[in-house]
Parts: sequence; C-alpha cells; structure tokens
Amino acid sequence: MASPAHPARLAVTLHTLEGQIPADYADVAERLAHSWGVHAVRVTSDKPGRVRLAATIRDPLVRVGQLPASTELLKVTVGRLETGGPWVVDFRTVPHWLNAGATQSGKSNLANALIAGLAPQPVALVGFDLKGGVEFTPYAPRLSALATTRAECGGLLDDLVTLMTDRMGVCRMTGARNIWQLPPTLRPVPVVVLVDELAELYLMADKSEKDEIAKTSTALLRVAQLGRAFGIYLFCCGQRIGSDLGPGVTALRAQCSGRICHRVNDPETATMTLGDLDPAALDSARAIAAETPGVAIVASQDGQWYRARSFYVSEAAAEHAAHTYADLAPAWTDVMAAQPYETPDSQSA
Ligand SMILES: Nc1ncnc2c1ncn2[C@@H]1O[C@H](COP(=O)(O)OP(=O)(O)OP(=O)(O)O)[C@@H](O)[C@H]1O
Ligand SMILES: [Mg+2]
Repeated sequence: MASPAHPARLAVTLHTLEGQIPADYADVAERLAHSWGVHAVRVTSDKPGRVRLAATIRDPLVRVGQLPASTELLKVTVGRLETGGPWVVDFRTVPHWLNAGATQSGKSNLANALIAGLAPQPVALVGFDLKGGVEFTPYAPRLSALATTRAECGGLLDDLVTLMTDRMGVCRMTGARNIWQLPPTLRPVPVVVLVDELAELYLMADKSEKDEIAKTSTALLRVAQLGRAFGIYLFCCGQRIGSDLGPGVTALRAQCSGRICHRVNDPETATMTLGDLDPAALDSARAIAAETPGVAIVASQDGQWYRARSFYVSEAAAEHAAHTYADLAPAWTDVMAAQPYETPDSQSA
C-alpha cells in the first residue's frame, strides 16, 4: 500500500501458497513491474511462508541532489541509494574499493565526488593516473603525490610499501594494532590512493614488461593486504577488472571489500565486480541504462546490495575543491618522514 511517507513506493506482503518459494516471485518481478506500470518490484522474504513485494513507482535515482559537506574523517556521502538513504564511502569501515563500469558509466564522476569530499579533510590524497595524467592532473594542488605512468606508479608503490613498513614498526613499538590506536602525537596522516584505469597496471604490450608488472602488482597487493591497519586506503577504478589481466588482479579483487558496479557492457565485469551476490544484483547491473550515468549497484558490508546514483560532481567542481584546499595537502616528503599530522581524532584525544 502506498505509504504517505514514501508516496513513490508501494508494498504488499503475501502468504505463499503451498509449494511456492520466494524465488518464484523474484523470477516474475520484472513482469510484475511491467503489468503494474511501476519502475521496479523487489522481492524479499523475512519469514518462511511470507514474501514482500515492494514496488518503486518512479525511478528515485533520476534526480539525486548535490554532494553534501562531509562531517566525518574518511567518510564521504557520494550519492543516494534507491531506498532514499545516503550512499556512503567510509574508508574506516571498508578500506579498499573497486569501482568498475564501461566507458562513460560514471566512474570518474564518483572519483570526483571523493576528491571533493576528502579535500577539506586532514588526509593525504595520492593519484595513480594511468590515463597519462588527464584524469587527476587538474587535482594536483590537493594531491600529495601523482604518478602518471606505470614506472612512476611503481616508484610510488615502493614508497607506500616503505611507509607501511615504517608505520608497522611504530605500531609494533607502542603495542598498537593499527594507527588509530597510536597516541595522537604519533598518529600518521591517513592516505587515500585513487587509481584510474587499473587494467593499465597489468596490461603487457611485450614480454620485456613482465618483471615490471609483476613488481607493481605485488606491491599493490601488499598495500591492499596491510594498508587497512596502517591508514592506507585504495579506491581502484577500471573498465576491466577480470582475471584475464592475470592472477594479481584476482588477488587484489579479493582484498577490495567495497564493490561498485556501474553500467557494464559484458556480464563478466558485473560478475567479477559483484562476486557471488544475489543474481538479481547482476541483472540489475546489466539493466543500468546509458542515459543514467552514475547509477551503480553497490554491495554493502552486510551482504546486501543497493541500486544507487552518485551526486553529479563535475571536473570543474573537483578542481575547485582541489585548489581551495591545496594548503591541506601534506608534502609527500613529510608523509614519508612520518611527520605527525593533526586529525580531528587527535585533536579530541
Ligand atoms: N551521477 C551522475 N549524474 C549526472 N551525470 C553524470 C553522473 N556521473 C557521470 N555523469 C556524466 O556522465 C559522463 C561520463 O561520466 P564519467 O566520466 O564519470 O565516466 P567514466 O566511467 O569515468 O568513463 P571513462 O571510462 O570513459 O573514463 C560525464 O559527462 C559525466 O558528467
Ligand atoms: Mg573516467
């Protein structure tokens, strides 16, 4: 029944007939949506013998509003969920992310939202721009480091591994399990690494690149495995994230618990991104229309999935934020030298 609080939604609960299972309803959800003349019908079942059919009358993601100011460290509300709730990227709870999708699906827009959201925060931002610098160079004033070739990424990854090892040593000495348990005077600045186009790190034009690729792939994987405890977080964007890129990508994928799947051209990319989620999530990812860039299927920690849309954040808006908060970008040499950095947490401690 349409609830006054959500006039755009309608829900009915049914008792299943003998022999029926919720999947019988899920299988016909799309046909139900057609015959009811609504945007979508989602089927859930919270008790045996009962199913709930929730219809969304209009697509709530056609217009989603604007990026709000972030209020918590390492947490950015990047868009809106189909349920009306906020779509949040919180590196403290989910340290590493995969952001996949076809060309023009909205991956960079989401990276822009993160840059704009994180720019005013006491964090170091690092860019791996394997599109030759065209993506992140405009944001350089707020970046502590920027690599635009695989060789540069390799160098920066070596730095990140060194940084992680140093931080590990400090934590071990003081008996802390992670940087957040360190006393404020010792706590280093969190580092968010944005990667755009992940596949370029793994693609081999000829055999001579084999060793370089193996080296960067190992370093990136180490950062993913140990970064969480030591305040180094990854946000990896790419059109392709499949196993055809080699075992390094498969291992990296396993470390990225945050999964975002924008519109895809092939079902494999959706499967690779979302893993063994509910098949309905994969269908939903395949059904994202080109006319709605920024719409994505987002897998959350609790195994749930949501359809969501990022707030539109133009390159100009992200660039503006990068210039406005350029002073907050710690120099990479200071990050490497473990200069303590005042964070909101350390101020209150
Ligand atoms: N949430 C959104 N709302 C409105 N427009 C959006 C949204 N996300 C992206 N767009 C628009 O869609 C277009 C493509 O977006 P974007 O550049 O982010 O795609 P992409 O996935 O990074 O593509 P590529 O793989 O080619 O880099 C842009 O013109 C962008 O402005
Ligand atoms: Mg892009």
